[in-house]
Amino acid sequence: MSALYSVVSGVSFYVPEKIVTNEDLTRVMDTTDTWIQERTGIRERRIADVNTSTSDLGTLAARKVLEKCGKTPRDLDLLVAATLSPDYYFPGIGVQMQNALGASCIPALDVRGQCSGFAWSIATADALLRTGNYRCALVVGAEIHSRVIEFSNRGRNVSVLFGDGAGAMLLERGKENEPPTSHNKVRGVIDSLMGCDGSGAEFLAVKRPGTARGFKEFISPEEAEKKAYLPYMEGQQVFRHAVTRMLEAAQTILKRNGLKAQDIDLVIPHQANIRINETVREKLELAPEKVFNTIERYGNTTAATLPIGMTEAEERGILKPGALVLTLAFGSGFTWGANLIRW
Ligand code: COA
Repeated sequence: MSALYSVVSGVSFYVPEKIVTNEDLTRVMDTTDTWIQERTGIRERRIADVNTSTSDLGTLAARKVLEKCGKTPRDLDLLVAATLSPDYYFPGIGVQMQNALGASCIPALDVRGQCSGFAWSIATADALLRTGNYRCALVVGAEIHSRVIEFSNRGRNVSVLFGDGAGAMLLERGKENEPPTSHNKVRGVIDSLMGCDGSGAEFLAVKRPGTARGFKEFISPEEAEKKAYLPYMEGQQVFRHAVTRMLEAAQTILKRNGLKAQDIDLVIPHQANIRINETVREKLELAPEKVFNTIERYGNTTAATLPIGMTEAEERGILKPGALVLTLAFGSGFTWGANLIRW
């Protein structure tokens, strides 16, 4: 009998066609291409049109990965989705994608891990596949940030950072007799790590609408008028914690699997800021080619950054079957996560 574990069968992504460059942003707010590039590494991002929802982007990415793997939605028995920009406050995008794809009446969870959402979703799907109750899981990260941020001077510290997009991964039950470990060559998810420090919730959040203490209404007309639903972010706090926690996550997962950073073939980190990733890379003493970044062209697509990175790394021949991959993520919450995968 084969061991219970999961294997990455494929990964794909979908981004809207419309490109918004830093230069485009200078026409609607006081910013410069130099400021954005030097501070973040971003040159451009994608923006979804008004007739596209987050679950639509997720569904498009999902169809691509299903096709790539020669599967149909009816082959799925689990769907795990991550987003912080759902179509509706409830239900989540998981159920909407189940319906849009025409999948069976499978469980469709939404994971609220913000920028750690995809790492947490891999961890969740892998754990469920290891129960033996599921065989084929679709993991999706999708975001439309452009409708939750403000393209103006008021919102410029946040809006220049984010982009729209979606990514999807197919995780299937492995067929080998032994599960993947850091020291054998079996393909699959070796280990996942998830963490959070909720005291960081105040530093990066959309606080309204909601049921917070002291507010009679979910959102009042006055609050809506003032756009109280825009994200609040203390950038320097987020930056500092991101470096600390991503590094810690890397060191913990490496140590408990008997690995050194240099044993990793490719790190696929979340894409919030190129300087965060460079600092983590330097502290791990990794060569530049060991860390794969895509932030330049897509900005921060939150739950979609990891599958976008994985797909592009594959397409460019940098990520090959058999490679030892480490994902690293950090996000609002504060949340963080890592996955160790034999590709
Ligand atoms: N264009 C031009 N100037 C801007 C700007 C923009 N888009 N946004 C802010 N500024 C200004 C500020 O108003 C400030 O001006 P002041 O010095 O006159 O007060 C100045 O730039 C510096 O702002 P500061 O916030 O100190 O910049 P920073 O070096 O910390 O960089 C971030 C800002 C947001 C790029 C950086 O803090 C960051 O990336 N943090 C992490 C955010 C993140 O990753 N979020 C997602 C987590 S998953």
